[in-house]
Amino acid sequence: MKMATESVAETDVDLFKEEFKKYKRRKPPPDLSDLIDFTNLTSTNKVKYGIQKLSFHKPDCIPCLPGLRQAHVWNAYTLEKFPGFVYIGNPFKSNGQRYWMYRCLHDYPSKPNVSNLDFIEQQLGRERPENLWDASYSSKSECDTNSKTKLSSNDDKTNSDQQDVDKFHFCKLRWVTLGYHYNWNDKTYSETEKSDFPSDLAYLSKYIAAVVHSSVYNPEAAIVNYYYLDSTLAGHTDHSEFDHSAPIISISFGQDAIFLLGGVTKAVRPAAVHLRSGDICIMSGLTRLSYHAVPRVFQSKCFKSSFEMEAGSDCEEDKCETINTAAGPKSKDLDDYTSICDQILNIHKKNIEWGPYEAHLEKGRINISIRQVLKDGQTFPKSTV
Ligand code: OGA
Ligand code: MN
Repeated sequence: MKMATESVAETDVDLFKEEFKKYKRRKPPPDLSDLIDFTNLTSTNKVKYGIQKLSFHKPDCIPCLPGLRQAHVWNAYTLEKFPGFVYIGNPFKSNGQRYWMYRCLHDYPSKPNVSNLDFIEQQLGRERPENLWDASYSSKSECDTNSKTKLSSNDDKTNSDQQDVDKFHFCKLRWVTLGYHYNWNDKTYSETEKSDFPSDLAYLSKYIAAVVHSSVYNPEAAIVNYYYLDSTLAGHTDHSEFDHSAPIISISFGQDAIFLLGGVTKAVRPAAVHLRSGDICIMSGLTRLSYHAVPRVFQSKCFKSSFEMEAGSDCEEDKCETINTAAGPKSKDLDDYTSICDQILNIHKKNIEWGPYEAHLEKGRINISIRQVLKDGQTFPKSTV
């Protein structure tokens, strides 16, 4: 996925890199007049990118999850200049945002999911804590961002214990993979490197695909990226999946970001999109294999309000939908539905101390990008190695 070294044909100008550098720059700050902010569209951008509003219907085959607004009120847009790209402005209610943030911070980093900390474990010959979030925020250990800290002379043992804690502090987490684990070295998936794909995230992505594409979607792999205010993600394409006809569904939480969406070569000048907590981007059709990047993460003006649970909010009347079983035999998805529904509706009963979650996301951003790896019914191609 990180394809920073990929080159463009010599005759082509690398307009992708040009825009990446522009939006990454801090001093002087970049001109943001071309930035597409779907909550405040300029008429120039509407014309320049061919921005069209989309309207969706409630899908009949799959009930909506609590924590999500009904599909007919979603604020969704396409860009004629980038066919297949769909932006959905935060369709989550505050309980939904809380639920998914909790899953990404508290649950998904645990084994058997794979993370960048697995490599640190191998180096240290020592297991990371079973629950990274609890271990990091219950011990009150500060994050040591300077990994080169020297051991002081006399209390070596305690110091090295402390260093191990620091090495496994949550702030060292960069990514987690779910389902088929992406191999960052050879940029492949393999049949055996796999853990169960979380059923709640599977359901959410199937629901989004049913609304946007009226199609069956098999989420088989996801990468959860953990960003900070100074993080960037270099330009790349996601082409390691065997099925490129199924979309990539990308969901963001926390601080704002600039997302660059280019063409299949770097010679296309990318569009820059302002993403906020809860926003969803879909890359399908021609943009499924397009270059994209995150040159900047920045402080949001409305992050807190997007998931604050207020009395009288629409979450109070949130409920599970009644499932129409007369339509046919119950599928596994519908079996899962009831328990996922209960989990989301009961998130506030868990007595979660939200302070550390909010504090983390005041400085951080999470992105989940969900992929279908195989075509429907396809088996894993036999390895040629
Ligand atoms: C990725 C990706 C985009 C984002 O993980 O492959 O492109 O918005 N993420 O973080
Ligand atoms: Mn990507």
